[in-house]
Amino acid sequence: YPTHQPYRTGYHFQPAKHWINAFPAPMLYKGVYHLFYQYNPKGAKWGNIVWAHSTSTDMINWSPRGYGVYPSQRSDINGTWSGSATFLHNGVPAILYTGIDPDRNQVQNMAVPENPLDPYLTNWVKAHENPLMEPTQQNRINASSFRDPTTAWLGPDSTWRLLVGSKHDQKGLAVLYRSKDFVNWMKVDHPLHSTEGTGMWECPDFYPVLAGAGGTEVGLDTSVVGPNVKHVLKVSLDDTKHDHYTIGKYDPFVDVYTPDHDGLADQDLGMRYDYGKYYASKTFFDWGKNRRILLGWVNESSTEDDDVAKGWAGVHTIPRKIWLDKSGKQLVQWPIEEVEKLREKGVKKPCQELKPGSVHEVTGVTAEQADVEISFGKLDLSKAEKLDPSWTDPQALCTRKGASVRGALGPFGLLVLGSKCMQEYTAVFFRVFQGHDGKPVVLMCSDQSKSSRNDENDKASYGTFVDVNPALENLSLRTLIDHSIVESFGAHGKSVITARVYPLLAIDGAAHLYAFNNGTQSVKASRLSAWSMKKARIG
Ligand code: FRU
Repeated sequence: YPTHQPYRTGYHFQPAKHWINAFPAPMLYKGVYHLFYQYNPKGAKWGNIVWAHSTSTDMINWSPRGYGVYPSQRSDINGTWSGSATFLHNGVPAILYTGIDPDRNQVQNMAVPENPLDPYLTNWVKAHENPLMEPTQQNRINASSFRDPTTAWLGPDSTWRLLVGSKHDQKGLAVLYRSKDFVNWMKVDHPLHSTEGTGMWECPDFYPVLAGAGGTEVGLDTSVVGPNVKHVLKVSLDDTKHDHYTIGKYDPFVDVYTPDHDGLADQDLGMRYDYGKYYASKTFFDWGKNRRILLGWVNESSTEDDDVAKGWAGVHTIPRKIWLDKSGKQLVQWPIEEVEKLREKGVKKPCQELKPGSVHEVTGVTAEQADVEISFGKLDLSKAEKLDPSWTDPQALCTRKGASVRGALGPFGLLVLGSKCMQEYTAVFFRVFQGHDGKPVVLMCSDQSKSSRNDENDKASYGTFVDVNPALENLSLRTLIDHSIVESFGAHGKSVITARVYPLLAIDGAAHLYAFNNGTQSVKASRLSAWSMKKARIG
């Protein structure tokens, strides 16, 4: 592989080479965080899938540990696909995962640690009863769409439950199973949830969140139920490659999950964790810090030929803490605090006015590997453009109204991974409209259209509306920049957009960082802090 690798990350996890995708069975065990990942040991394209394994004590610096689960028995001989870990009554984790059998059927298997005293969980032993769940004539399960078992949770009847992703025709399904002993699993007649027209549900995730008065960031272990508890059901839609979630109420006595519809139709796919490139995510409860952690995979936006040439594909986001917003209507995500240990040389700018059409360079940080926080002062909404009622699709709106399209209140935000003369830049910004009911509508965009002079890359723009009122509170943006990944958090993590970019000029120490305002109205950058980020031990 080429030694010149301008797109390899400095602090986002990726192995030394080859393909990675989903991150099955994350967990904290005996003070050690475990990251397993779907890995092709033979190349930079998907295939030959095994679980590679790395461990960490801070989820930022990782040490490779070889393979976790790899094909070794009949029920997984053609691949060990995604799955989850569950802590059993003895405090030892069991992994349930999808195996691809000799007939290429998808079946569910179990593996347990060879030595539970080993905090690194180096070797895994497979159950001789495998497969524990499989498609049969009777259960009418689609043998090529039956995968990715969730972490199991314990019901009030001391029975375990879990979900397996599936579909019937185009109806996405979260198939429900129950077991008393974790080995004998019975399919329940009804799925926990299903939605017409959504296709295969990959990597389902089902977990409780605390609905505290005023909001709380405390996470819950997976079996917790109770009056102040809501549940999240996340599915990864194979057809669109996006992670969607709903928030709802789960009744453990009848095993029914009812999403809070908020007046929306059944076909509604719910919200997204991330409105950029982000897929096959999974959460786990970190009992060390009482938080729920979200891990996600970000694929390349380059061509497969480019991936093969550079020898690798796929990175991991910085792990995010995830909790229920105080509105109860959406989740909030924030990079784990441990990433801040990488902050070194920093700059802090005092309150600064960003005049219409202005671009301000932020000097003094390594712009290719940085953490930036900017916050905009309260806005006078009477100056905002009116939102056309037909503009309901934020991604389409961001595509039409990129960073170079002048507005009134915005676009304002950051230009990251910019070249010296601005031939290249990735723009992360807000644009504020007045909705037809007079309420503000905040659009957040990540505009990759100018990110690289290489036109072979997918440079689609991403966008979402942010539930915040910028007349009443400051509008904040935090962006983690790392060579070819840009992770942006709007309004303290209410909206998240991740992008992959491959500049040709803004590399090898030549990248610049700017704050900008391309609206006709001035805005105040009430706070701007930026840090160079140290390299982490990744891979
Ligand atoms: C998600 C996924 C899972 C499957 C695994 C295969 O990206 O397709 O559904 O288990 O990856 O690598």
